[in-house]
Amino acid sequence: MRSKVSIVGAGNVGATTAQRVYELGYADVVLVDVVDDLPQGKSLDMLESGPVLGIDSSITGSNGYEETANSDLVIITAGIARRPGMSRDDLLLTNMKITGDVTRQVVEQSPNCIIMAVTNPLDAMCQNIYESSGFPRNRVFGMAGVLDTSRFRTFIAQELDVSVEDVQAYVLGGHGDDMVPLVRYTTVAGIPISDLLSQEDIDRLVLRTRQGGGEIVALLKQGSAFYAPAASVTQMVEAVLLDKKRILPCCVYLEGEYGINGLCVGVPVKLGANGVEDIIEIKLTEDERASLGKSAAAVQELMDVMRGSGG
Ligand code: NAI
Ligand code: 2OP
Repeated sequence: MRSKVSIVGAGNVGATTAQRVYELGYADVVLVDVVDDLPQGKSLDMLESGPVLGIDSSITGSNGYEETANSDLVIITAGIARRPGMSRDDLLLTNMKITGDVTRQVVEQSPNCIIMAVTNPLDAMCQNIYESSGFPRNRVFGMAGVLDTSRFRTFIAQELDVSVEDVQAYVLGGHGDDMVPLVRYTTVAGIPISDLLSQEDIDRLVLRTRQGGGEIVALLKQGSAFYAPAASVTQMVEAVLLDKKRILPCCVYLEGEYGINGLCVGVPVKLGANGVEDIIEIKLTEDERASLGKSAAAVQELMDVMRGSGG
């Protein structure tokens, strides 16, 4: 029997993710949105690519949640996206309400599922979804670090004219301007990046990574990035469905790890069939720990705004 993956939000990220997951061929996909006929139309279009691609799994669309019943994995992309001039935080209160409502309906239909948060601002929405679900923390996590790391790896590979496959990096912290690209653990074929690039060049690539989401928003003029986000979500979907036990930076509720307690922040985790199977604690320097603390403080500020609004 195939795994079942439901994706809530059939916009740019949700639909592109649905296409990628459907094209993996080993999961049945349900796409949900509030807009009448939108998820039905997009999923039928994808289904009709099946004969050409040789895919026998199913993809269906719905405006309700019954079709999502007994999902193994649910991905929440529902919400509004950034427009030029908007920060991720501007999205906070609207998306808080949307993700809370969505989570309650998801949990009713799939009490044993794993939930992946994608909606922005990611860390606060991940925590909202975690708290609304009542699930243990291993079954709720968010995607951002894989995307931020992929951007960092892209820029390093471009700079050095090497394969992206040979660039290893980790970006930790919240999915915001204070995210923490771990330069000390960034290597190209095992060679520390500091042996290959000047500090000035590294700083430039770190800044571009931190501003990576905004760079795409400015170019697209409406909406935000979705191809690299959908690829990042799909890598995490594969880690869970195939029990790959990948070590990936994911947003997860911390209970003292990295000195952070009661907050969802991006850290390296082992991702497998049980969701977050372990939280990997890398040894950080004082500076790195301070950067992570600053990034966590920015997430805490959002949580305070949410709590102040009754969320
Ligand atoms: P989009 O606007 O293309 O799609 C959002 C979809 O959500 C729309 O189709 C809308 O009708 C639907 N929606 C709204 N309320 C809903 C509800 N209550 N139930 C079901 N569906 C609902 O936006 P896009 O580009 O797909 O982005 C989605 C979210 O993901 C945004 O918050 C965006 O900021 C975030 N994002 C996060 C990333 C990350 O790294 N975590 C990367 C890229 C986007
Ligand atoms: C990004 O980083 C919008 O958060 C999204 O592209």
